[in-house]
Amino acid sequence: MIRLRSVDKEYDGRKVLRNLDLQVDAGEFLFVTGPSGAGKTTLLRLLYAAERPTAGEVWVGGERVDNIARARLPGLRRKVGVIFQDFKLLRRKTVLENITFVLRFHGLTQREAHRRAYLVLKRLGLHHRQSALPDALSGGEQQRVAIARALAYQPRLILADEPTGNLDADLAGELLSLLCDINYQGATVILATHDNSLLESIPARAIVLHGGAIHYDGMWPP
Ligand SMILES: Nc1ncnc2c1ncn2[C@@H]1O[C@H](COP(=O)(O)OP(=O)(O)O)[C@@H](O)[C@H]1O
Ligand SMILES: [Mg+2]
Repeated sequence: MIRLRSVDKEYDGRKVLRNLDLQVDAGEFLFVTGPSGAGKTTLLRLLYAAERPTAGEVWVGGERVDNIARARLPGLRRKVGVIFQDFKLLRRKTVLENITFVLRFHGLTQREAHRRAYLVLKRLGLHHRQSALPDALSGGEQQRVAIARALAYQPRLILADEPTGNLDADLAGELLSLLCDINYQGATVILATHDNSLLESIPARAIVLHGGAIHYDGMWPP
């Protein structure tokens, strides 16, 4: 599903990822961990072509994305569901519309978009808030809407960047088990976190980044 070959990333001449090689098979669950500034977010951004590497190759779902043409970006984004650190909800749209909007963008009919949006909101325990505007929700609820939006079109690859940052421990646990379910149903999940309690709550493959290099790649706990 994913392959990085000798990937370097520099910002203003400063290397933040160095000579990364990584392979993630379809259906894997991978934690990306390491301290703040280690390069976790940068690595995820390379995978949905929000950044380009300074050197090396990035492959996602059989497609080379490090030099992807602008016209092919929507196709890539259809394969990838992204849960951002900051939610980027549309402030003037309701919770339900925030989700149907994305599904319509991916080509679903209004009726099908509505049906799927409702189902995913129900799954996340937010269907009673479907008509609310994002600003009326708590931080944790907003985060769950962002998660619902990423999951609604059933992407084959899910990239989650510190997805539990604004959730209390119960909700963080729920989110992790939801991502595990989705992984069990066949999606590849890559979850970046510096939160050790999250990392330790399920056994899974983990890579530890440090200064932009992979210091460990194997099952966690080791
Ligand atoms: N757009 C950017 N411009 C310049 N430096 C950046 C940019 N994005 C990230 N960095 C730097 O790259 C390094 C890795 O950042 P990041 O990938 O966000 O790490 P992490 O997610 O592990 O905390 C940090 O030193 C950060 O300051
Ligand atoms: Mg980060």
